[in-house]
Amino acid sequence: MSRSHVVRKAVVPAAGTGTRLLPATKSMPKEMLPVGRKPVIQYVLEELSAADVREVLIVTSQQKRAIEDHFDLNGVWQERLETDAKWRTLLPQAEIEVQLFYTRQSVPRGLADAIARAEVFVGEEPFLVSLGDSILQSSRPGGLLQELIRLHLEKGARATILFEEVPPEAVVHYGIAKPKGRPERTFACEDLIEKPSPEEAPSNLAVAARYVFDPIVFEYIQKTPPGRNGEIQITDTMRLMLADGHPIWGLRMEVGERRLDIGNFGSYFEAFFELALQDPEHGQEFREYVRRRLQE
Ligand code: G1P
Repeated sequence: MSRSHVVRKAVVPAAGTGTRLLPATKSMPKEMLPVGRKPVIQYVLEELSAADVREVLIVTSQQKRAIEDHFDLNGVWQERLETDAKWRTLLPQAEIEVQLFYTRQSVPRGLADAIARAEVFVGEEPFLVSLGDSILQSSRPGGLLQELIRLHLEKGARATILFEEVPPEAVVHYGIAKPKGRPERTFACEDLIEKPSPEEAPSNLAVAARYVFDPIVFEYIQKTPPGRNGEIQITDTMRLMLADGHPIWGLRMEVGERRLDIGNFGSYFEAFFELALQDPEHGQEFREYVRRRLQE
């Protein structure tokens, strides 16, 4: 078995309240917002499946049952699925070969606390965390995740994070890295800061919603005090790990690789636009429509 296949388990935190996307998220999980043809979380699971992950724990909360329904069999469609091949390509199970598990974060205590719900599920092996509100685009489906896993194992890191460069004014939305030295495709992290102001930001490398952790992270989550918004932030957990000398590595996305973030309306509109342009059936027609509209 290749080393990149060692990580078989992933956690998908999908418990956030979606406040930044109200009223769209008043009774609908933000992870179920459609981007092009599919809800965001379906892309996340397809990516995990393509990276050879086989067991996924989704951490939900109140008002999130639509996620479970989406990945469940459905009496009406199921019958068609069995009799008509075309239907198979339209249903969420088609591209996903993972076994799904669910648990809940009942009180919104932050991302690190949501990840802590996975401790029993994870056991002793390194595991992936893929946030349920971001899609990765690259030429190789699952390839970026496999590269992240490889880096984690090769460096003996305790955490490994995917980063994207963002414009200076966008650093306020993300966890930001302070790299050791000049960051290449991969780099060691010296520090991490959650949602700094542009003045405080040590770089413009933003945490891009994908992480690999060793189970030691759970010990450190327990020790993490509430941070921004009174929530327990995974960025603060990783700071504690760095302070104790645990190595944390970064993988920087390059040209042709992109994260589409559904976390606020500006980035959600961009994400939908991108995937609508890429749609195999309507993309070309949509592109022409946009061109016409922009000329008006
Ligand atoms: C979370 C993390 C942040 C990361 C971001 C990626 O923030 O706390 O470090 O950069 O996800 O999408 P949230 O979007 O939950 O506020």
